[in-house]
Amino acid sequence: MRATEILAAEASRGRPPAIVSLIGDTPLLEITRMDLGPCQLFVKLENQNPTGSIKDRVALAMIEAAEREGKLQPGGTIVEATAGNTGLGLALIAAAKGYRIVLVIPDKMSQEKISHVRALGAEVRIVRSDVTRGHPEYYQDTAARLAEEIPGAYYVNQFGNPANPAAHERSTGPEIWEQMRHDVDACVVGVGSGGTVTGLSRFFNRVRPRRGVEMILADPEGSILSEYVRTKQLVEAGNWAVEGIGEDFVPDIADLSYVTEAFAISDAESFAVARELLRREGILGGSSTGTLVAAALRYCRKQTRRKRVVTFVCDTGNKYLSKMYNDFWMAEQGFVQRQPQGNLSDLITHRAEAGEVISAGPTDSLLTAFKRMRSADVSQVPVLDESGRAVGILDESDLLVKVHSDPAQFNETVQSAMTDKLETLSPSAKMQDLLAVFNRGRVAIVMDGSKFLGLITRTDLLSYLRRHMPK
Ligand SMILES: Cc1ncc(COP(=O)(O)O)c(C=O)c1O
Repeated sequence: MRATEILAAEASRGRPPAIVSLIGDTPLLEITRMDLGPCQLFVKLENQNPTGSIKDRVALAMIEAAEREGKLQPGGTIVEATAGNTGLGLALIAAAKGYRIVLVIPDKMSQEKISHVRALGAEVRIVRSDVTRGHPEYYQDTAARLAEEIPGAYYVNQFGNPANPAAHERSTGPEIWEQMRHDVDACVVGVGSGGTVTGLSRFFNRVRPRRGVEMILADPEGSILSEYVRTKQLVEAGNWAVEGIGEDFVPDIADLSYVTEAFAISDAESFAVARELLRREGILGGSSTGTLVAAALRYCRKQTRRKRVVTFVCDTGNKYLSKMYNDFWMAEQGFVQRQPQGNLSDLITHRAEAGEVISAGPTDSLLTAFKRMRSADVSQVPVLDESGRAVGILDESDLLVKVHSDPAQFNETVQSAMTDKLETLSPSAKMQDLLAVFNRGRVAIVMDGSKFLGLITRTDLLSYLRRHMPK
């Protein structure tokens, strides 16, 4: 049985799964090993919600509100445009309550989130993330259109749904207030839909009126919100890689009137701070956690008296292991700078010297080599002998030639199928030489004399060129 069917069967017996009762009531942890100036900084561990993010709270609240208001009937369909986390929360609750769910997700979102919602039983429509409001493929417009087309559909629209901020006003705010023993000076938040900032602003303004708790915005560079807070001007949006926060418009439910200060944080700084948070404090947060903590650190360090500051670990870093916690991804995207050599070796992503090359031995079986290629998501491997010398290369075509008529050939050795006429280049070779190798349908093996440095593939060259694209 699929996850949805199991959870729905339980729901039909009037028993929602116990996991739903674990939403909210998340721990608050003090940061103790980072430079905080004169301040104290606490992080609310929203990564500990059942699907690993703050959005479980609003997913539950919005579905319950729709049920109460009669907008969602038994057997109905939930439709939402989501960067992933809201979708995960909604998919969990939908499965628990027996609803069909369709999610529209922009294509920059991490594969982990998409696999997770699919495994929960959601139907996924991937749309472009490089188009804005008004374009037929814009994710929110696509979701609104789908909701009109599907009978009995309810479009959640977290960007305009009052149950979204209400969830934070009723649960997140009071929890922080109690956990901080009614002593909070500032709260650093990111804005995706605006639910968190609006709900917390309302709550804190009630318990500490006249902006007694400062609301501080942490915004990705490229988002329009920090500039909007500072100048009330709507500037043109850029691009950013941090997920879940930052906008190219001001969402309907986002009340930014309580925000007193805004920090724009680059992707590079967000990722660096998230990685530092893991190394120093042992907290595995997502990409937006890096943005929030970076802004919180900047705020804390510029204070002249002690302040008690709260921010969020909005989602778990498990969702980003293949991205910002992956050193190769970071290097490929240009977020970590290696010492440039000024020659072709700068194009090598996996360096032999650093033990980063996925390779095969000449006497390994073809099956072993193939499994290694699949799990590392590469389409060729260099073949290295015991002394680390490159003696051949094995790619998917070599494998196919060998096994297409007789799959038993997977048991043969790598050396029986590999190409041993190597296309080697020295690090000082020209770009023209590299392109010539690619034109012959091959990848380049970079050798410094007899020393194997690594491979250069078309993808490596494309990533290198992208990093050097004029801004
Ligand atoms: C991953 C992620 N999703 C969502 C949010 C909050 O967004 P919203 O404004 O929708 O409450 C945050 C907030 O920091 C976040 O980091």
